[in-house]
Amino acid sequence: MTQTYADFHRRSLTERDSFWAEQAKRIDWQTPPQQVCDASRPPFARWFVGGTTNLCHNAVDRHAATRPEDQALIWVSTEVGQEKIYSFAQLQAEVEAMAAILLAQGVGQGDRVLIYMPMVPEAAFAMLACARIGAIHSVVFGGFASVSLASRIDDAAPKLIVSTDAGSRAGKRIAYKPLLDEAIALSAHKPTGVLMVDRGLVPFERVVGRDLDYATLRRQHDSARVPCAWLESNTPSYTLYTSGTTGTPKGVQRDVGGYAVALATSMDWIFGGKAGETYFSTSDIGWVVGHSYIVYGPLIAGMATLMFEGTPVQPDAAVLWSLVEKYRVTVMFSAPTAVRVLKKHDAALLKRHDLSSLRALFLAGEPLDEPTGRWIAEGLGVPIIDNYWQTETGWPLLTVAHHIAGVEAVPTRFGSPGVPMYGYDVKLLDETSGVELSEPNQKGVLVIEHPLPPGALQTVWGDDARFVNTYWKSVPGRNVYSTFDWGLRDAQGYTFILGRTDDVINVAGHRLGTREIEECISGHPAVAEVAVVGVADQLKGQVALAFAVPRETPASPEAALALEGQIMKRVDEQLGAVARPSRVLFVGILPKTRSGKLLRRALQAVAEGRDPGDLTTLDDPGALLQVKTLLHK
Ligand code: PRX
Repeated sequence: MTQTYADFHRRSLTERDSFWAEQAKRIDWQTPPQQVCDASRPPFARWFVGGTTNLCHNAVDRHAATRPEDQALIWVSTEVGQEKIYSFAQLQAEVEAMAAILLAQGVGQGDRVLIYMPMVPEAAFAMLACARIGAIHSVVFGGFASVSLASRIDDAAPKLIVSTDAGSRAGKRIAYKPLLDEAIALSAHKPTGVLMVDRGLVPFERVVGRDLDYATLRRQHDSARVPCAWLESNTPSYTLYTSGTTGTPKGVQRDVGGYAVALATSMDWIFGGKAGETYFSTSDIGWVVGHSYIVYGPLIAGMATLMFEGTPVQPDAAVLWSLVEKYRVTVMFSAPTAVRVLKKHDAALLKRHDLSSLRALFLAGEPLDEPTGRWIAEGLGVPIIDNYWQTETGWPLLTVAHHIAGVEAVPTRFGSPGVPMYGYDVKLLDETSGVELSEPNQKGVLVIEHPLPPGALQTVWGDDARFVNTYWKSVPGRNVYSTFDWGLRDAQGYTFILGRTDDVINVAGHRLGTREIEECISGHPAVAEVAVVGVADQLKGQVALAFAVPRETPASPEAALALEGQIMKRVDEQLGAVARPSRVLFVGILPKTRSGKLLRRALQAVAEGRDPGDLTTLDDPGALLQVKTLLHK
């Protein structure tokens, strides 16, 4: 007998403990949990209390024990023209060797290991090795530069950093080591060691007594055996930094057991992935999608995971599909931006390869516009599944779950990621009154009631108060988790995402805080004041646009251009090219209220050619006029 998804979802909340106790059976436990959920201390939630398990055991060892020769990690780099395949047994050997290296460097349970790496297999080995011994990894996206990296080093205080000489993007080598050395020079915390994976791409300086050579140590620990540490379910497994309203990034902290159960469940019910098949996510290990759906999720499900170093258009715009064909990919995950990039190329490329293995393409990270969704759906002939979530939630919050036995599938609808997933008690609230919006088509803040489901963040690393105050106190009178996204629910129950309520922007699926960019630009000696806003962009979804008030008006258009170039270079060098504004426009004054509050939303509206709304609080009406004139030049 089939039940409706709505009934199923309701049961996941009303019969929470039995629901999740059932899902917990999907993973191996050394000691079974004594309590499913301890929600007695809101907003904190502890899942599978008393149970001991290990992420690496569930991702690697248990499959290596039964299917040692099956493919586990497929690495393809179109940047360096290499491919490597690791079976589960080989992956386990690599992870054990890496774990032995970490242990030999004095890394123990609870110690942090920062991983600053491009898409290379050693990055996954390092993550899994940390999980194996109970060290906490913190992967920093390779596109971030020294200042971003330094603030993360200071917050995570890693004992060891794992890095490499260089990454490569679109054929261009990007040196990592100088950025890392500079970051360590800038940071107050100093790691005791830096484990260098030398790819032989760019020569680099070695710091004697600190830098270690991975290849040498790998040989020393070649057949090392390192057992998995059995960790209580609520032991932190990793932190991952993400942006918010303030300039300082937050370390989203996750547990072990809840995360493993949540991923195992999502791999089955949401993604429909099966052991022995191949999963391909085009994301990066520096982002949450890389953690959940390049490394841990597919492996926990016993699938081979395809790790790709390259761009979707090189050697040509069919490269992703050639990989689907070659490795018989069944489930694929990407971002709308990647599809918009492909859309600029011949649609016939979508048909050049045999895609008969592919069952669905999942897209997340930013809104999926309808034309893009339709284009790729028609081109590939498989379902396109939009899914909405956040670094904080760790797995999809809104989508359609098509693979739950005995439960009616919710049809997909272009423009909406779908409906609340099981385990999430999602509501839309009025931003100022905190009242729940129960009528369809009302715009409100999308929130989640306590307790968050398994797999979601436990807290902000080292700062419980920040976790409570940032996420749980933003809607007046309500102790609910705010996603900081605007949402709207239609009469059929589909939720539409309408953008962020805070100062976070989304550039090509990369989540960035405008405050961080502002802090970097205002450090330039020629800049008196700056405002950065995200404006709509056809290709990237949004781009950052900076409005700067120079200390002295540039003497000529050439001087203004030179200053713009300097500011962009500063952002590149300090934060990374991902954060670089598309333009820096110089203005005499920024639009502010009489009380001095910057009207970012008005700036954004004007930049997007929209009506800036109520301007009665504006101190100097000329400020926006100036912006308008500049934009139309
Ligand atoms: O604003 C939402 C947007 O991306 C934010 C989360 O970004 P991040 O922490 O990097 O996690 C990405 C995980 C996929 C959200 O607050 N966002 C994410 N997915 C969607 C989305 N906006 C619209 N539609 C989506 N499917």
